[in-house]
Amino acid sequence: METTPWWRDAVVYEIYVRSFADASGDGTGDLAGIRDRLPYLAELGVDAVWLTPFYPSPMADGGYDVADYRDVDPLFGSLADFDDLVADAHAHGLRLMVDIVPNHSSSAHPWFQKALASPRGSQERARYMFRDGGPEGGGSGHGEPNNWLSTFGGPAWTQAPDGQWYLHLFAPEQPDFNWRNPEVREEFLDILRFWLDRGVDGFRIDVAMGLIKEEGLPNTDPGFRARSPIWSRPEVHDIYREWRRVLDSYPGTRVAIGEVWTDSAEDLALYVRPDELHQSFNFAWLEAPWSATAFRKVIDDTLKAVTSPTWVLSNHDVVRHVTRYGQGSLDPEAGLARARAALLAMLALPGSAYLYQGEELGLPEVTDLPPQARQDPIFARSNGEVPGRDGCRVPLPWSGTEPPYGFGPGDGSWLPQPADWADLTAERQAADPASTLWFYRRALRTRRELRGTLPDAITWLESPEETLFFRRGGLICVINCGEGPVALPTHDQVLMTSGPLDGTALPADTAAWLLAG
Ligand code: GLC
Repeated sequence: METTPWWRDAVVYEIYVRSFADASGDGTGDLAGIRDRLPYLAELGVDAVWLTPFYPSPMADGGYDVADYRDVDPLFGSLADFDDLVADAHAHGLRLMVDIVPNHSSSAHPWFQKALASPRGSQERARYMFRDGGPEGGGSGHGEPNNWLSTFGGPAWTQAPDGQWYLHLFAPEQPDFNWRNPEVREEFLDILRFWLDRGVDGFRIDVAMGLIKEEGLPNTDPGFRARSPIWSRPEVHDIYREWRRVLDSYPGTRVAIGEVWTDSAEDLALYVRPDELHQSFNFAWLEAPWSATAFRKVIDDTLKAVTSPTWVLSNHDVVRHVTRYGQGSLDPEAGLARARAALLAMLALPGSAYLYQGEELGLPEVTDLPPQARQDPIFARSNGEVPGRDGCRVPLPWSGTEPPYGFGPGDGSWLPQPADWADLTAERQAADPASTLWFYRRALRTRRELRGTLPDAITWLESPEETLFFRRGGLICVINCGEGPVALPTHDQVLMTSGPLDGTALPADTAAWLLAG
């Protein structure tokens, strides 16, 4: 009998489908490529994978602009490939979660095309957020219905040919649905069932806090995050209660994790009430600098607010943490050392952890992509001022000594890979027991061995400034974010470390797992 549901302490690996592995040779990752690499994931020791969108899409936002929620884009394969992938993943002992994008569709979605072709006030328009403009509304002088801004830059409103405006919290090619319309709600319940029937173990819900907008769409203050006319409206929770009933009606344990950006752990907790989502991403750590004080606050706030926490250091939307943690340090190796240390701290905590593809190879952000190669709409919408998210989406290096490093059988990849990644390939690292890949494998295996033996609560031990020492049952985790070595607390055995110890001391930028009686 399963005592703890699988998702509570799972390690989930995010696959950014376009950049994981390319079987077809067109330079873009695909479902068959993922299938080929399942043994790698099983050996890595993760419990589940989450696939970013692979649905038919014009790719205005890398597939987060969905034109058909019930199919696979030919770029990535077919529904038959998807079914094979589910079966193979399960055969490898891996659960499979898919991304669902309910806040907006693609402007190429048939519903939106019909809405554009239909008159003001029509049922077709009522599936999206169409509004008439007003002279004072946006305050921009262009007559938008209000002052809301797109997350990607510029106004959140675009004018249809007949002069009405439609809302898009992201790119203009991503019109927001009207979630107060029962037709939209029914449609998504049906989409959930479509994928559940195909055997998926759960969903990652894109922009989960954005679906419901305040009635009347009042102007907002800049800098909003937690409660605003746009994000985390109370009614959004009714949607997830409905979704939970669908998930619970399926055999096995099917789960949902919400992408919830918020400044408050209490707000996050609302999404994971017992009849709503199983989990919500906790981005607080990913937003924290390399600092023991900051990490301690994240851990304390999270554990106080939620009973089933999640932890995440990187994903396809943020600068890779090797690079984030290296910023401001004169030591070029510091970023990687800190990233490895942070992993040990994260994996020692109660709850589940989300890894982003390539972090097990210690990949840095690619910061020097040529402007003409950049594809993130953020880059174009900011007139090139904001580099955007392409730097963390560069296709993975698998083998060989030059691009495309075994990413696929073709000549290149949709984003160019750096010339100096030969030492970072999975093949090279698999042959080196001191590599980051082997470090991840050991950490994940050790965590598995400890599974079920550790209490959910942690206890803080006294520790020098800019270090954290915490205890979970027989495991003590120590991390040193300070400048010099510190003495380890009393222990029986060093289980593993993120880098070499300095005699018996814990050097700066290093973490360790200790066993104590
Ligand atoms: C989420 C996704 C991001 C996407 C956005 C709009 O934040 O993670 O990649 O651009 O939603 O769908």
